[in-house]
Amino acid sequence: MTVNGVSVSLEADGDIPLLDALRNHLGLVGTKFGCGLEQCGCCMVLIDGSPVKSCGKALATAAGKSIVTIEGLGTRERPHPLQQAFLDEQAGQCGYCLAGILISAKALLDRNPAPTRREIVLALDDNICRCGSHNRILRAVERAAAAMREGAGR
Ligand code: FES
Ligand code: FES
Repeated sequence: MTVNGVSVSLEADGDIPLLDALRNHLGLVGTKFGCGLEQCGCCMVLIDGSPVKSCGKALATAAGKSIVTIEGLGTRERPHPLQQAFLDEQAGQCGYCLAGILISAKALLDRNPAPTRREIVLALDDNICRCGSHNRILRAVERAAAAMREGAGR
C-alpha cells in the first residue's frame, strides 16, 4: 500500500486492524486508539480519499490502497490550512480526537471547498470530542475552508 505518498510493504497478519499496523509496524502514532469499536472516530484515516475508521478495518483490506494519516497532512513548519486553523481557533483541549477530526475535515474540504455549517456537522458526525470543543472545531473548519479558497483564488 501507499502511506502518505510512500510505498510500503508489510509482512504482518492481514487480520490485524489497519490502526495497529500504522501505529505499531510503521510508527505512525498520530492516529489514535480510542474505543476500538468504530464508535469514536479517533482512528480515522483516508483510504483512497474516503475517511475510514482504521480500528475496524483489517490490514489486508488496505492492500494496494492509498492511505493518508494525520502525519500526511502537514508539517510543524508547514501546517495544512486545517491544522493552522485549529491552532488559530484553539480548537482542541486535550487534542486526542483531533487527528481523526482533521482527517474527516480534510475529506470534506477535498470534495466540497465551501461547506455549510450543517455540512460540516454531518461530515464530522462520526467523530466524538469528549472535551466538548465542538463549536470551536466547527469554526476552525470554516476558517480553513475560507483560507483554502482564498489561497486557491490567488
Ligand atoms: S478507535 Fe476507532 S472509532 Fe474509536
Ligand atoms: S479535544 Fe479532547 S477529545 Fe477532543
